[in-house]
This record gives sequence, C-alpha cells and structure tokens, in this order.
Amino acid sequence: MHFIMLTCLGFAVAALPGSVSAAATPSGYPPPPAHDRVGTTGCGKPHTPGYHYRDTHGNFSIVSGTSTRYYAVQVSQGYNARQPHPLIFDYHGNGDTSTEQHRNSQYYNYPASQKYVVIYPQGLNRSWEGPSYAVKGTDDLQFTTDLLAHVQAEYCVDPTRVYASGKSNGGGFVDTLACSDHGDSFAAFAMASAALYTDTNRTSCSKKRAILETHGHNDTVISYAGGQGKGGPLPNVGKWVKWWGERNCGLDAKAQVTGDLGGYNITSYSCGGLENVTQHYHFAQLGHCWPNAFADNYDAIHLTSQNCSEVRVLDYTPVVLGFFGKWDLGNAPK
Ligand SMILES: *[C@@H]1O[C@H](CO)[C@@H](O)[C@H](O)[C@H]1NC(C)=O
Ligand SMILES: *[C@@H]1O[C@H](CO)[C@@H](O)[C@H](O)[C@H]1NC(C)=O
Ligand SMILES: *[C@@H]1O[C@H](CO)[C@@H](O)[C@H](O)[C@H]1NC(C)=O
Ligand SMILES: *[C@@H]1O[C@H](CO)[C@@H](O)[C@H](O)[C@H]1NC(C)=O
Ligand SMILES: *[C@@H]1O[C@H](CO)[C@@H](O)[C@H](O)[C@H]1NC(C)=O
Ligand SMILES: *[C@@H]1O[C@H](CO)[C@@H](O)[C@H](O)[C@H]1NC(C)=O
Ligand SMILES: *[C@@H]1O[C@H](CO)[C@@H](O)[C@H](O)[C@H]1NC(C)=O
Repeated sequence: MHFIMLTCLGFAVAALPGSVSAAATPSGYPPPPAHDRVGTTGCGKPHTPGYHYRDTHGNFSIVSGTSTRYYAVQVSQGYNARQPHPLIFDYHGNGDTSTEQHRNSQYYNYPASQKYVVIYPQGLNRSWEGPSYAVKGTDDLQFTTDLLAHVQAEYCVDPTRVYASGKSNGGGFVDTLACSDHGDSFAAFAMASAALYTDTNRTSCSKKRAILETHGHNDTVISYAGGQGKGGPLPNVGKWVKWWGERNCGLDAKAQVTGDLGGYNITSYSCGGLENVTQHYHFAQLGHCWPNAFADNYDAIHLTSQNCSEVRVLDYTPVVLGFFGKWDLGNAPK
C-alpha cells in the first residue's frame, strides 16, 4: 500500500546518495558500483520472494551456544540470487515476535527496501540481553554474529552493506551491538524508542558508528528523561544523543538542530566528511512507538496505551532506509 502511496517519497529516498547509481555520498565518496561488489557464499541459491518463518523442515533456526534460536526473513520481489543484496537485521521489542516487528517497520511496503534482504531475529523469551528482565546468560551478540554467518551462506549478501534496526528493547540491543566488536560487521544502526539500558554514560561505549534514533516526548515506557526503567537505569535520551555526537566527532562536536518540522525536530552531528553521522528525531507528542504516518503498523494497531495511531506526523521507515542507503563499511566511521 505504501508502495503506491509513497511513490514520490520513495523515489526521493531511493535517489539519495548511496544508492549504487548516485554520484557521491554525503559522507565523502561514491560507493563502488554494483558490478564491483562481491557477494557472499549464499550467492546462487534461489529464494522465493515473500515473508517466511519456516521451510519444509520447520521454523528457520540455528544453534547458537547451547540454544536453538529462531528467525524469519523477508525476501523482496526483486531478489536476484546472483546479485549481492544489502541486508537488515530488525529486532523486535520486549514481549514481541519477529512477525510483530515485520508488521511494525513494514520495510516490505517501501520501494527503497526492494533491494534488501531483511532478517527478523527472535529473542529468547521474547527479549534481548541488556535489561534485567532478559533471560540470564543469553548471548544475543554471539547469536547475531552466528546468524549473520548463516544468512551470508544462505543468501546473496553484500557484506559491506549490513545494517541493524530495532524497536524498544530491540532498539536498545541495536545500541549494545553498535558498542560491541560484533557491531564491526554493520555499516549503520537505527532505533525507535530505544531502551538504552547498556549505554548510560558517554564512556560506556568507545565505538564510532553511524547512529539514527527516534524518541517521543510522551513515551511512558522508556522515558525521554531517563531514570529507572523496568529493566534498570536508563539515560536521558538527549544526553545519549550528545554522547554519540561526541563519540563520532569529538568532545567539541556541535549539534545542528532544526526548528519544529511539524511535531518533531532533528538533531544532527557532522564532522570530517561524516555528514549526519549521528541523527535523532525528537517527537513532541509521540508515545512508545515506531513512527508511522498511516496508522497501520503493529504499534498503531496494538499499542493503544501509547496513542501510537494518533501521531501521524512522520513515517520513520523511509527515513531509516534513506540513512542506511548512505553508509557502507567503506565510508562508515571507524
Ligand atoms: C543532514 O540532516 C539535515 C537535517 O535533516 C538535513 O537538512 C541535511 O540535508 C542533511 N544533510 C545531508 C548531506 O544529508
Ligand atoms: C514455529 O513458528 C510458529 C509460528 O510463529 C510457532 O507457533 C511455533 O511454535 C514455532 N515452532 C517452534 C518449534 O518454535
Ligand atoms: C520469561 O518472561 C516472563 C515474563 O514475560 C518471566 O516471567 C519469565 O521469568 C521469563 N523466563 C526466563 C527464563 O527468564
Ligand atoms: C559508565 O558505564 C560503564 C558501563 O556501562 C560503567 O562500568 C561505569 O561505571 C559508568 N561510569 C560512570 C561514571 O557512571
Ligand atoms: C525539539 O523538540 C522537542 C520536542 O518537542 C522539544 O522538547 C525541544 O525543545 C525541541 N528542540 C529545539 C531546539 O527546538
Ligand atoms: C502527550 O502528553 C500530554 C501530557 O500528558 C497529553 O496532554 C497529550 O494528550 C499527549 N499526546 C498524545 C498524542 O497522546
Ligand atoms: C494518551 O491519550 C490520553 C487521552 O488524551 C492521555 O490521557 C494519555 O496520557 C496519553 N498517553 C500517552 C502515552 O501520551
């Protein structure tokens, strides 16, 4: 549906620097053309377009450590087994499932996603490591690395264009991943209403990463102001954005903040050829939601306590796709 309704916007997003046909990225130099990209060992294996969580043998799973871990996959209509595709790992919120996150971010509805393979990992007991409520001893960072190796052997993936996104506990885990060596395989990180339990001061993370986050001022699950959350202490989101600005651009980094763009504003940090390497969308009224302009995603329909369907000022998924489209491992901050 968004595919049709957003044709113009989708075209604009697809035309952002970073798509292989573009002249130059804002981050300094053009990405290599498609024919120069080298795919992974999964190239040549056919896959049927659509959303899949099981094959003829059962649900898709791998063994990671001592656990069997599950995942689902969206194969786009344009999937070509001989062409390296960019890849997104999209992590659900606490208490949720792969399929619920699939319906939350709805990548499949947007033209700019059609070149991607999207993987929806399933958390053990529906949560991710970091908060105190996660299953004790779970190593979701190792699961991510193990699943990435598995996916690269099953699908034709461009290993320089692997990205992570997530909502709430899944967004917080994306930040945990960004702060870890396991995140070195990922070119950019995007979060909505992130539960930032593992990143509570500037020095708790020493990585430089391309970071995008959105947060609503009405979020009553992961408060913008921080404080005690269900899974432990949380940082003030505005301070956390500044830390990422400083991690990427140094202690004298200066934020650029837009005026009110109609219910939200954008804070951006840029430095040394890294244009908008830290970006934050701050919504005046939004609750604990993946922002959606059509009131038809999982949060809009099911998270009624957060009034997710009432604030339709921006559709976040094309923003995420535009952000991912600007980065690969060649131009990402190091
Ligand atoms: C950086 O982000 C700001 C705010 O959204 C935008 O106005 C600007 O065009 C962006 N710059 C680039 C090069 O994308
Ligand atoms: C496979 O997935 C279905 C739907 O999500 C679920 O009901 C079922 O329990 C899963 N099976 C296993 C073995 O996890
Ligand atoms: C799984 O989550 C439920 C709450 O959703 C909790 O009561 C239970 O203790 C958790 N199990 C484990 C093994 O952490
Ligand atoms: C910063 O965070 C790290 C890891 O989360 C923690 O070990 C350290 O004590 C914190 N430092 C301060 C000053 O709070
Ligand atoms: C950005 O928007 C938030 C939420 O409405 C608001 O609290 C903040 O003051 C705004 N920042 C600027 C610089 O306008
Ligand atoms: C946001 O919170 C304010 C103050 O609690 C409330 O008046 C307003 O209705 C909320 N907005 C939405 C969209 O729920
Ligand atoms: C949702 O809207 C109701 C009614 O306007 C308000 O009382 C409540 O605070 C809002 N919830 C959030 C999370 O903004």
